[in-house]
Amino acid sequence: MQALLNDIMQEVQPLIGQGQVATYIPALAKVNPNQFGIAVCDTSGKVTTAGDATTEFSIQSISKVFNLVLAVTYYGESLWQRVGCEPSGLPFNSLVQLEYENGIPRNPFINAGALAIADMNQSRLIAPHVAMRDLVRKLSGNEGLLANPDVANSEFEHRARNAAMAYLMKAYGNFHNDVEEVLHNYFYNCALEMSCVDLARASQFLANRGHCTITKEPVLTHDQTRQVNALLATSGLYDEAGSFAFKVGLPGKSGVGGGIIAVVPGRFSLCVWSPALNRMGNSQAGVAALESLTRRINWSVY
Ligand code: DON
Repeated sequence: MQALLNDIMQEVQPLIGQGQVATYIPALAKVNPNQFGIAVCDTSGKVTTAGDATTEFSIQSISKVFNLVLAVTYYGESLWQRVGCEPSGLPFNSLVQLEYENGIPRNPFINAGALAIADMNQSRLIAPHVAMRDLVRKLSGNEGLLANPDVANSEFEHRARNAAMAYLMKAYGNFHNDVEEVLHNYFYNCALEMSCVDLARASQFLANRGHCTITKEPVLTHDQTRQVNALLATSGLYDEAGSFAFKVGLPGKSGVGGGIIAVVPGRFSLCVWSPALNRMGNSQAGVAALESLTRRINWSVY
């Protein structure tokens, strides 16, 4: 495994720093783009790394996976009455389908869907962002994980687009709590800072039929894990989900901080990170690294 990760890193070296760091969240624009890390956590809990795998970064939309895990735990199948399970084929922050489809977002990973899920968590939890922080602390075994308040506040100041989605859903009766309060929790979740090692460990249950080796506890049932992985495979990379399936062939979730988690069911979870993004908002070197990985291990879910 170590040789595999070293080879992948060497292969993608020319791509590191290619693309643009996210600038629509001003606090993220300051990140050095010339960084790259990768960490793999196998189903026994063993971690292998290369590059900047212990450097913390803003997990951004990767938080939508844990947001969904919390909601699945509380709502079970009834969750799918408020959020769909179809790919959107549109950018992560697109609004257009919401009106055509009566305020029901296509899936839990586009921003509108994640906001509907965050609204559901707000109805059940006193402090949803604390619940998520505690969940990722437990799953990763890293009790020191924190959100970066500068990033959360920067997102809150530039919240107009996400607020528009939430208010549109409210107009359709698919958003029950105070918009600003839900956005506050949502941004704190996106602003969590974790390393590749933390994220590979925290998502290991997805490779292990819902069971976390670190806590030795079930996180989701087998069926729920299958559903989450299917959604990650079809919608985890937004309007790049099709070509990601074509080139990589793994369930995955990206974030505009440059991280991508991916799952090789039954074998391992992994996280790759490099901050410069392609035009779909996904890490350029990260996608290339995952492509290299599945080619080298000659395995994909398809
Ligand atoms: O709400 C937002 O726009 C960001 N906090 C998260 C977007 C994101 O990470 C999209 N992923 N590639």
